[in-house]
Amino acid sequence: MEQKREQFSGALGIIAATAGSAVGLGNIWRFPYVTGENGGGAFIIVYLIFVFGIGVPVMLSEMIIGRKAQANAIGSFKKLAPKSSWWIIGLIGVLASFIILAFYSTVAGWTLHYVYSATTQNLLGQDYGTYFINFKDSTAMPAFWHIVFMVLTAAIVIAGVQKGIEKYTKVLMPILFLFMIILAVRAVTLPGASEGVKFLFKPDFSKLDANAILAALGQAFFSLSVGMGTIITYSSYFKKKEKLGGIAVSVAGTDFFIAILAGLMIFPAVFAFGMAPDSGPGLVFMTIPSIFEQMPLGNFFAIIFFLLIVIAALTSSISLLEVVVAYFVEEFKMKRVWATATSAIAITVLGMFCTLSWSTFKAIKIDNIAGNESMFFFDMMDFLASNILLPLGGVLIVIFVGWKLGKARSLNELTNEGLHKSKLYSLVFFIVKYIAPIAIMFVFLKGVNVI
Ligand code: TRP
Repeated sequence: MEQKREQFSGALGIIAATAGSAVGLGNIWRFPYVTGENGGGAFIIVYLIFVFGIGVPVMLSEMIIGRKAQANAIGSFKKLAPKSSWWIIGLIGVLASFIILAFYSTVAGWTLHYVYSATTQNLLGQDYGTYFINFKDSTAMPAFWHIVFMVLTAAIVIAGVQKGIEKYTKVLMPILFLFMIILAVRAVTLPGASEGVKFLFKPDFSKLDANAILAALGQAFFSLSVGMGTIITYSSYFKKKEKLGGIAVSVAGTDFFIAILAGLMIFPAVFAFGMAPDSGPGLVFMTIPSIFEQMPLGNFFAIIFFLLIVIAALTSSISLLEVVVAYFVEEFKMKRVWATATSAIAITVLGMFCTLSWSTFKAIKIDNIAGNESMFFFDMMDFLASNILLPLGGVLIVIFVGWKLGKARSLNELTNEGLHKSKLYSLVFFIVKYIAPIAIMFVFLKGVNVI
């Protein structure tokens, strides 16, 4: 007999889990550094347009697919379009989860190390730029923390959807939120902070080239967890009465707000302490400690703060691993424990190449990409996933919903069989069918210099 699928317990649990997946290192680590590399204010405007204009419609498309099919990222396509090749979209998604989790756990490992070094009182008072680079370029410690993080992720995924995923997110996300507000307030009141606020909110459109626009699209997908089946997988656990439109908008709104909050804590500090906004992936790690240094009980708060980031990262990493695990469990009838263990080990191995990108594997690199510094294995994986696989997955997902599933079936799912009618849903479908595919393709092809 087939086992009953697990479900989230209700709307609050759903929003907490989906927002938990969306809010993570993408907001706190990736958003600030990508914004810093692409000039600030103008980039954020484009990002905002992409989050709501394209990200939300892609998210709704994934919800339509997942909740309708009640299956994993690949199985859903097989159910909705049997005897066709559409399931390959799901396969791209599983591949993307693998790659994203590989470099995600590198960064999460850095965060764990910061918890540790704040706990042992070895963090505050350093020259943070040098401290971070020395740590990142070493081998044993980053590798150790990387493994610790993957073990934590696997442990929660083994526990299952409701017991594991839901329980942790509901309580911890609001605490993180509160902390970020305190830090942002401290940062904007630092002497010299106003330059940072200007950098965030005063658009300078001269910095926006095709690369920057593709980076904004990639960041929007990454941060919302869309384009590869995480939302398909999660919404397969949604109940039929849940209103998808409201969930998608709340999740996107929360996610955007937290990214801006992260910007408000980082950039004032970047300018107040005379650092470069385009310092790359180390940006947050090189600036946040200096804010704590300026606070009473700084060391204590640093421990809690980095711990909360680890937890935000966990609620995202479990959603990445869940895509792979749900696939193995449902399609190959593997036991949850074994599916989790094998995929976590494989991802840890790929992730080790990311973690040791600047030491053991530093020979693997591409020089002089668009005038930037070298791209190491870590950067290649991030670029491949965020700027190529996610937009590609996103475009295929909206094409599937718009052209294969069609208006009647899509709107039926979106409106809970006509119970929650709204004119907006027709607009969403129009965007899904025509605007999103064209916009994503255009930004993508321009960004990679094909047109
Ligand atoms: N959105 C998460 C973050 O911002 C990362 C993440 C989780 C993700 N699931 C995803 C990114 C699926 C892309 C696709 O940290």
